[in-house]
Amino acid sequence: MRTIIQNGTIVSDTAAFRADLLLEDGVVKAVGAGLSAPDAQVIDASGKYVLPGAVDVHTHMDLQAGAHRAVDDFYTGTVAAACGGTTTIVDHMAFGPKGCSLWHQVEEYHRLADGKAVIDYGFHGVLQHVDERVLREMGELADREGITSFKAYLTYDDRLDDGALFQVLRQAKEDGIVIPAHCENDGVVNYLRGWYKAQGLTQPIYHARSRPARCEAEAVSRLLHLAAMAGEAPVYVVHLSSAAGLAEVRKARAQRQKGVGVETCTQYLTLTEASYADPQEGLKAVMSPPLRTQADCDALWQGLQDGVIDAVATDHCPFHFAVEKQFGAGDFTACPNGAPGVEERLPVLYSEGVAKGRLSICELVRLLCANPSRLYGLYPRKGTLQPGADADVVILDPAKRRTLTHAGLHSAVDYTCYEGMELQGAIDLVLSRGEVVARDNQFVGKRGAGRYLKRGHSSLAE
Ligand code: URP
Ligand code: ZN
Ligand code: ZN
Repeated sequence: MRTIIQNGTIVSDTAAFRADLLLEDGVVKAVGAGLSAPDAQVIDASGKYVLPGAVDVHTHMDLQAGAHRAVDDFYTGTVAAACGGTTTIVDHMAFGPKGCSLWHQVEEYHRLADGKAVIDYGFHGVLQHVDERVLREMGELADREGITSFKAYLTYDDRLDDGALFQVLRQAKEDGIVIPAHCENDGVVNYLRGWYKAQGLTQPIYHARSRPARCEAEAVSRLLHLAAMAGEAPVYVVHLSSAAGLAEVRKARAQRQKGVGVETCTQYLTLTEASYADPQEGLKAVMSPPLRTQADCDALWQGLQDGVIDAVATDHCPFHFAVEKQFGAGDFTACPNGAPGVEERLPVLYSEGVAKGRLSICELVRLLCANPSRLYGLYPRKGTLQPGADADVVILDPAKRRTLTHAGLHSAVDYTCYEGMELQGAIDLVLSRGEVVARDNQFVGKRGAGRYLKRGHSSLAE
């Protein structure tokens, strides 16, 4: 069980250097020049980048969302992830039955994922109401299951109101738990959805119009103020989509508020509301928050470059265009929210970020590997290639070119939002704990080989 990856450029979040990598028994054993080991299989990575396996801390595998179920389960979704260079996911659970214990969904998610996932995985808990039992169970799940993050929605039917959120934040501060939050102003969004529908304005572009950027900015601001009032409770803004939302984060950063983490997603960096122009095609991009303007994309790239945004995730939440998305034809309010992206993230971010000179290769590793691991209690087991880390490795050839098409992807879904995008760079090989799981865009791993990750505390809780 030894592998040597020779002559590649090893990349961490702070350095890129020519060296060999020795993997043994599923972990990184050594990094250095001229490594050798008897009986080791040798992989030549000359001219290629050797990256830590990417970590996606925002996926929704097998999500039950109202009447519809996301079409990737933990097998197909993690196969897609692996082929795209992601070797760890932390999945956001669906809401459970009204009033249920936090343990209910954890048990349900073990049933959905255990024995299916092909890469390592963890879960974020989900908060859908707050009472004494829920507040107690947050700490229990952190201790016993390594679930050290609990998602709060500021919109949707099972959202938390400000009082409930504030209680959760105080508890999170006490327990060293981080609260990832979906930030949109529910009252305004709901009113606008109804208003557009009443005017007969029901095409996908009105999905975007009914969720203006200021709805995100107001909710981000509110979350950050509530966190500050709760004693700088650890919070993490998921899927930030707008310049206005980012400006609120910048305010908190300028005031040196502790415990604030921020994520954006591939789609908010690379796609715009032009995707909604066609009433049919636009259904593919119905997600919340919606796609924005080019100016928003530019602001988010700036946020990555100056370090205000900590991580890039995917919010992978796929529904078939030909089936579930068609419920939104003629009524955007009936379209299930979400889009695929778990496989596209690393190739698109390498091409649009590194190859186009917007990010360095080290910044890419910081945003896709090291920071998500730190923020969710996985570092240094994941997100780095230092000795002792899990041998999760991606070999990427920067010289290759590829056209992104749905046919070349592995999710169960029937489309990609990035159809036809020309990519610089391609993934040659992906290893999960030392085993090859993807080679030249073919999945070669094993169903159920992924292990459940009991996570430690977030760097935001330190
Ligand atoms: O539209 C989206 N993003 N669906 C998935 C659930 C969520 O809000 O993250
Ligand atoms: Zn969300
Ligand atoms: Zn999500």
